[in-house]
Amino acid sequence: MFADVLTDHPAVGRPVVDLPTPAPVVDIALLQGNIDRMAAFFRDRPARLRPHVKTHRAPAIARMQLAAGATGVTCAKVAMAEAMVDGGIDDVFVANQVVARQAIDRLCRLAQRARVTVAVDDAGNVAALSDAAQDHGVTLDVVIEVDAGMGRCGVQPGRPALELAKVVCRSRGLRFRGLHAYEGHVVQHEDVTVRKAETDRMFARAIETRDLLERNGLAVAVVTGGGTGTYNISGVYPGVTEHQAGSYVYMDPSYREKVPEFDLAFSILCTVLSRPSPEKVITDGGIQVLARDHGTPAVAGHPELAYRSLSEEHGNFTVRDGCATDLRIGDVVAVHPGHCCSAANLHDRVYAARQGVVEAVWLVTARGRSE
Ligand SMILES: Cc1ncc(COP(=O)(O)O)c(C=O)c1O
Repeated sequence: MFADVLTDHPAVGRPVVDLPTPAPVVDIALLQGNIDRMAAFFRDRPARLRPHVKTHRAPAIARMQLAAGATGVTCAKVAMAEAMVDGGIDDVFVANQVVARQAIDRLCRLAQRARVTVAVDDAGNVAALSDAAQDHGVTLDVVIEVDAGMGRCGVQPGRPALELAKVVCRSRGLRFRGLHAYEGHVVQHEDVTVRKAETDRMFARAIETRDLLERNGLAVAVVTGGGTGTYNISGVYPGVTEHQAGSYVYMDPSYREKVPEFDLAFSILCTVLSRPSPEKVITDGGIQVLARDHGTPAVAGHPELAYRSLSEEHGNFTVRDGCATDLRIGDVVAVHPGHCCSAANLHDRVYAARQGVVEAVWLVTARGRSE
């Protein structure tokens, strides 16, 4: 049993509605369904699934993803990767630039315990990684981040990527593995034709870049990218070898509108605090437990309620015109956060429940681990 799974917590065996609210809850059956659905999609395809764990930040869930066939995990930061390795994951990809000296040292120390891949987009950073890897006596796997359309990090496709790949290949302590390209600007585009067209356009550039590298004698083993909204686009693009979908495990209402085959497995249980008028429902869950960076929260099982606003510790919902609600003060409701990943990062533990009863408490050991 892993230390991040608590089965002797006082909540275990108790109905979720008895939890002190606000309480983060994962429906194990829905979570497992999401994990299995994505795993099944990739099972007989050339690309392997390497889910992004910034959605849940919980090693218990990462282990479920690996048990279902994932090849390793994708992380945003070194500290997140450390939490995953501490939780038994032995293959981590930091899909980001690691540039601070102390962070590079930590990355190298991690490579003494697990297989570590890191993204680069700068020759100076490659030199720093190479020096540190040699000092620590480790080999870091390296992919070149290519900005094939998102406009965030990454070198341009084509020759700039080739030149940087050559630098990596010459650098001791580093092993060139391939290319990383993330279509983050379109993963949630509401128009699936745009989502597909832009994703295909991006990966066409990435694959052309792969071909250029190979024509220059560099073996490109990995082409990685992808998010939940494009799992069936970039995930099947010829030449893509790994897919980084993350949100599919929890989902949130706005993402689900675009990818309805994955269920809302994560919610924050909240108590109705006040019914100041027949059309108002005020809960005890606000920004500090639900986050508010994007998306709109929704109250499970209460389609009559529309989101109005969040303040720090209150959720404010209105009964839609022509509807009524039977909710009363003291009732407990499950609120799906507008953005599951940001909300998950606000909680040190989640209650893992089946049929409304807590089965275990999972520690969110990578919560806040953004260093
Ligand atoms: C580099 C990278 N890959 C994959 C993902 C996962 O995307 P999604 O949450 O849409 O599944 C993200 C999300 O932020 C990301 O930044």
